[in-house]
This record gives sequence, structure tokens and C-alpha cells, in this order.
Amino acid sequence: LQPNYLENRRVLITAGPTFEPIDPVRGITNRSSGKMGYAIARAAREAGASVTLISGPTALETPYGVQRIDVMTAIQMRDAVMSHISKQDIFISVAAVADWRVANASEQKIKKNGNGKTPVLEFAENPDILASIAALPDPPYCVGFAAESEKLKQHAEEKRQKKGIPLLVGNIGHETFGKDDNTLVLFDETGSLELPHGSKQNLARQLIEQIAKRL
Ligand code: C5P
Repeated sequence: LQPNYLENRRVLITAGPTFEPIDPVRGITNRSSGKMGYAIARAAREAGASVTLISGPTALETPYGVQRIDVMTAIQMRDAVMSHISKQDIFISVAAVADWRVANASEQKIKKNGNGKTPVLEFAENPDILASIAALPDPPYCVGFAAESEKLKQHAEEKRQKKGIPLLVGNIGHETFGKDDNTLVLFDETGSLELPHGSKQNLARQLIEQIAKRL
């Protein structure tokens, strides 16, 4: 590969958790730090791509030269992805999108009324952003992530087919969330390839090379 092997390519990346409000001061989120997605954004930019990063709430700095759009909820993330997806060559869905949002979120802060009665939350399923992008008539090259706690190979390959995407990257959930290093396993139609344990930045560079080779 040439040094600027993603020059003239446009890459859209989602990263971080989503935050689903319960009321104006409370919400439900998950332990995604955004580190893997941000590292991939940095690596894609280093390879010459024009990179847009749609990010849930994280404590991370925007990588140099990357256009970042901040969102909170899965619905906002879906809307931001939809409005930026045309003309993208690659979509890498790294975000840990909440599976459910609170359907009966309160517009006002829920008060503790002292009689011991606790609020009851109802949930609604969030849209699957990656699956809807993969189902577009002329989709970009779509890459998904899967954090599994067991049977990585089986679950990852099933997920790749269910989402209708050419490449799915598996990692072990509890070994990646919040950490600076990781192990990745790439699944495509030809089988699997392990990128051995290393820093997320180093793995991100290898992943971007692997994606470029498959374009
Ligand atoms: O379905 P599951 O959450 O296991 O799949 C993970 C992959 O799907 C990740 O790439 C994630 O970014 C994406 N995803 C999504 N929208 C959702 C749930 C997951 O884009 N609502």
C-alpha cells in the first residue's frame, strides 16, 4: 500500500456510547469509552482519508484533521449518520449503540416523593443504524463491530450475515471497554483473521489497511 492509500476516500465512523435520557438529569448509557473508534478515525485520517466522526458522549480529544459531530441518543446518531452517508466510501460502525431507549422519559425531573414508590421505566427498541446503512441501494463498504463475552467466532459470523455487511470485527467485550489495548478478529466471507493483542492505535492502523485492501 502507498503511504496515502486512502487519499480521495471518504470515511464515516461512529464511536462511543449513546446516552438515553430518563429525565433531564438522568439517563442510561454503557461503558464504551470511544477509544477504539477514535483510534480508527485517527488511522483513517493518517492514511489520507477525509474522515467524519459521529460520536456519543466521550472524554476524548478530536483526532487531528477529523470532522467530529457530537450526539447523545441512538436516534440522534441515526439521524446524523443518515444525513452524512451519501458520498461516503466506507462506513465503520464502532459505536456501542444502546439497544433500547426509555419510551416514557419524563420532560421534568422525576421527584422522589417519599412514599417509597419507585418509577417504572418502559423501553423501546432503537433502530439498527448499521443494518439500515447496509440495506441502502448503493451502500458504502460497511464494517461492523461486535463485543462478545463468549463464542466470539460463532456470534460474530452470525452477526455479519444478519447485518448484511462484508466485514465484522470481533472483540471480547469486557477486555476492550475503557482499555487502551485490545485484540481484534476480522470476519469476512473468506473466513477470519486475528490481529493479535496490541494498542488500540496500532490495531486501528492494521484494521484500516485491511479495509483498504478489501475495497
Ligand atoms: O447488534 P449488535 O449491537 O450486537 O451489533 C453491533 C454492531 O452494530 C456495531 O457495529 C454497532 O455499532 C452496530 N449497531 C448499530 N445500531 C444499533 C446497534 C448496533 O449501528 N442500534
